[in-house]
Amino acid sequence: MSRLVTGIGELVTQDAELGTLHDAAILVEDGLIGWVGPAGAAPAADSRVDVGGRTVVPGFVDPHSHLVYDGDRADEFAARMAGVRYDGGGIARTVTATRAASDDVLRALLASRVAEMRSQGTTTVEIKSGYGLTVADEVRALRLAGEVTPETTFLGAHVVPAGSRPDDYVALVAGEMLAACAPHARWIDVFCEPGSPHAFDGDQARTVLEAGAAAGLQLRVHGNQLGHGPGVALAVELGAASVDHCTFLTDADVAALAGGDTVATLLPGVEFSTRSPYPDARRLLAAGATVALATDCNPGTCNSSSMPLMIALAVREMGLTPTEALWAATAGGAQALRRTDIGVLRPGMRADLAVLDAPNHLHLAYRPGVPLARALDVTG
Ligand code: NIG
Ligand code: FE
Repeated sequence: MSRLVTGIGELVTQDAELGTLHDAAILVEDGLIGWVGPAGAAPAADSRVDVGGRTVVPGFVDPHSHLVYDGDRADEFAARMAGVRYDGGGIARTVTATRAASDDVLRALLASRVAEMRSQGTTTVEIKSGYGLTVADEVRALRLAGEVTPETTFLGAHVVPAGSRPDDYVALVAGEMLAACAPHARWIDVFCEPGSPHAFDGDQARTVLEAGAAAGLQLRVHGNQLGHGPGVALAVELGAASVDHCTFLTDADVAALAGGDTVATLLPGVEFSTRSPYPDARRLLAAGATVALATDCNPGTCNSSSMPLMIALAVREMGLTPTEALWAATAGGAQALRRTDIGVLRPGMRADLAVLDAPNHLHLAYRPGVPLARALDVTG
């Protein structure tokens, strides 16, 4: 089946040769892009959809979320806005609520969160476990996440659960829990934050990541969220695809990111929701690092599923241009997931498209909070 998407007022392909087109069309064949070019030169297709002069961009790629959970922590957000600091302690509340929820309840919550993302233009999302923290509960979270995305991440090393000794828990995560979870995960992640009484130091994080790599998982790291620490350096040293947060970076961290192939995934919704300083994305780009944007959608540090909001915050608070922020939210996210089939619109790539109810992509940051973006259904 082929379908022509036409009437595209502005088409941001992010392909070096195709660039940005006006009055453009895209031919979709069996879910892949078959052709991109001027609407007047479009080939015939089985069906067509006219987007009426709107803007089309690659579907957003959100490479960091924690969508498998039950419970609500709005009270913590309110306390933070009144000056309370975030230290990861609230994760335990979500663990309790999530363990108590049935598979069907979690499945329904997950489906509604993924639908909420799609309705705002996100076509790929990575989803972590990490609110189970027992072998059975972590496997369950990954099984449910795997029903909605191939980008599943084992985050048994989210925090040390109540009643466990840290080193015993690290041994469990790197041993029995990893063995049970690895078949359900593509990635392994760890909350490396020596400044948190609940998370893991550099040595513990290394133990978890090296065990994950030996089990065939690829690496990602939560690092440098609450203060300076070893997370970024460790991620680069071990060849992680991405180190996420990067709120506090030394010059050596920036140099390491620039010299390695680990993407710096920035989470501006977290700085927003925890009243933290925003990292300087311009400093990273100037050094030669690759920057991605993600929501980190979770009940603790950022309960937003909106990639357009992340783009607006990155432009306003992190020094990215609107065009750079769009790149970071699409092609950057694809690199953070080591995906070569998404994030750019050219023949052969997946036809994952977002349509903006706007004349150009600058409106994503220019009109913050306005629901301009949605994923475009190119089937049928
Ligand atoms: O990425 N920092 C660690 N984990 C999450 C927050 C989880 C929570 O507070 O529930 C994050 O910010
Ligand atoms: Fe996170």
